[in-house]
Amino acid sequence: MSAPVLGGSARAADDDKGASTARPTVTPASTIERMDIVVVGHVDHGKSTVIGRLMADTGSLPEGKLDQVRAMCARNARPFEYAFLLDALRDERAQGITIDTARCFFATEKRRYIIHDAPGHVEFLKNMVTGAARAEAALLVIDAAEGIRENTMRHGYILSMLGIRQVVVLVNKMDLVGWDSRVFRAVADEYGAFLAEIGIGRSEFIPISARDGANIVGRATDAPWYSGPTVLDAVDSLVRREGLESLAFRMPVQDIYKFTAEGDDRRIVVGTVESGVARPGDEVVFLPSGKRSRIATIEAFAAEPPSGLVPDAAVGITLTEQVYVRPGELMTLAKQPEPEVSRRLRASMFWMGRAPMVRGRRYKLRIGSAQVAVELAEVTRVLDASDLGSVKDKQQLDRHDVAECVLEAAHPVAYDLADANERTARFAIVDGFDIAACGVVLAVGDDAMSLLEDRVRRRESAWSGGEISVDERRERYAHKGKFVVVLGSDRDGAPIVGRALERALFELGAHTYYLGLGRSVTDLDPAEGDDPLERAGRLRRLGELARIMTDAGLLFVTAPGDIDEYELEDLRMLAAPFALFVVRIGEASAGLHAAQLSFPARADADAVAEAVARELVNEGVLPEYYI
Ligand code: GTP
Ligand code: MG
Repeated sequence: MSAPVLGGSARAADDDKGASTARPTVTPASTIERMDIVVVGHVDHGKSTVIGRLMADTGSLPEGKLDQVRAMCARNARPFEYAFLLDALRDERAQGITIDTARCFFATEKRRYIIHDAPGHVEFLKNMVTGAARAEAALLVIDAAEGIRENTMRHGYILSMLGIRQVVVLVNKMDLVGWDSRVFRAVADEYGAFLAEIGIGRSEFIPISARDGANIVGRATDAPWYSGPTVLDAVDSLVRREGLESLAFRMPVQDIYKFTAEGDDRRIVVGTVESGVARPGDEVVFLPSGKRSRIATIEAFAAEPPSGLVPDAAVGITLTEQVYVRPGELMTLAKQPEPEVSRRLRASMFWMGRAPMVRGRRYKLRIGSAQVAVELAEVTRVLDASDLGSVKDKQQLDRHDVAECVLEAAHPVAYDLADANERTARFAIVDGFDIAACGVVLAVGDDAMSLLEDRVRRRESAWSGGEISVDERRERYAHKGKFVVVLGSDRDGAPIVGRALERALFELGAHTYYLGLGRSVTDLDPAEGDDPLERAGRLRRLGELARIMTDAGLLFVTAPGDIDEYELEDLRMLAAPFALFVVRIGEASAGLHAAQLSFPARADADAVAEAVARELVNEGVLPEYYI
């Protein structure tokens, strides 16, 4: 996501010169470290006040802003609030552009901070999920008088799910409880235990009064019992995320650009690097397809091409050897730890969809750049956010549930586990047009019977057939039923072959039926809008249909497009107990799979049909005398 152009106020702190900060930096601007921090907490616990204070007390506000807001409050006979500073800044910025979240900046001697205010948790989540806020750490604000509330817990869970491992807990409004150390300790003990339980080990607790600026930048005078860091100290001692550069190379493939000019058949693989470093000459492996090639060149869309692929770089690369890869694959380096590849994932997720997540319904899984149909296979446990640690025994996820569950994708997907690489372990689930969940993969799902297999088994016992047996039909029709799948793209002429085959078989006297799936099923890239749910649904109907048509004794011919091996496997499973007869036209671009017969692209359809008919005779599907 590109950073919005910011107005005057934000520029003061974000400007490379850092001129208006009260603590002028001596470090050259280009080497100043940056860190994204998100501020979360229950409604009204003081998030915006903390941020306003941090900005004011570090001198990161634009000249005169504070006086301006104070004057405005006086004019309206309202008490001054530090939180108003954020509104004032936001208004200023909103004049030119629309931004979905309040981003503020402040600088210390050590680094520049980008602070994301999280007003309501829904916006906050969407932000996190879309990766707009790649926060490395969080400030979590708890009102000392009100104590731990529902969102205090939820936000904690979500932080852990997003892989944020450093949380500074600010026990705010200590002035309201007379700076009583027991109140502070009670909150710190309870919440500290909770954070440890959800895997956030690094946490610091600070008693503050944001309104009075106590322990924010300056020390509190009312808390002689507290000798720990101020908020500013704590923020400055947060550690940068341990080198994304040193992790295994991961780049989700966003798109493939093709050069069409003057016989140039080069392709540019486009994406944003999540972790690791790669250079021209390195051998790459695309997963889940397993295709291999080498990086030839690195292309940039503006300015100078970067010399290497580094985290967060949005780049295009060309390969030495052209391999067919699809958007959605994960580009990795050979000889480095491989990511996981599976259909089943054990995940921890936060459901925020309006409708509950239920079994038997399909959703879209977005992981890396992949988009694939997914189902809820199993709910391991649901945590009740309002009641620490309790486990609800249920099989669906309701809004705001935090759950551990097993998901099953229609295709294998490539990802990492949360403890290996939080960036490539994150995913989102889309229900209709809404982001309905965010989560992280904890483990590779076990190899239980797939949902499809299970459904096919149940289907077989649910259907009730007639009296006429397969053998009776075969005798009447003088041939067996068969499901013939003609693989290959429209361009290579697969549908033409399918129709020619239907015609040829019909002329021979066979009972046959052709049904293709048309361009929309497989010739579109997911990036171009072929909805993975619809695609999976259409293929499934085709498979079901094949099962019935074959059972009815027909030679059922289809040309489903350029489906991959997993989709073919699904068709096979759906058509069971009847075996497929697979014919391939043209090069297998989307993964090699065994075909009984293969023909070159745009082969003569009638000749192919005749060859297929002959092979069907050899296989005993058609009787000898047919040909
Ligand atoms: P939302 O954005 O609505 O979730 O609230 P928030 O967490 O940003 O809270 P905000 O900073 O707007 O503060 C809420 C109220 O608490 C305001 O009226 C603040 O003045 C008050 N408040 C914040 N910090 C303190 C504090 O340290 N002491 C006291 N007494 N009041 C405070
Ligand atoms: Mg606020």
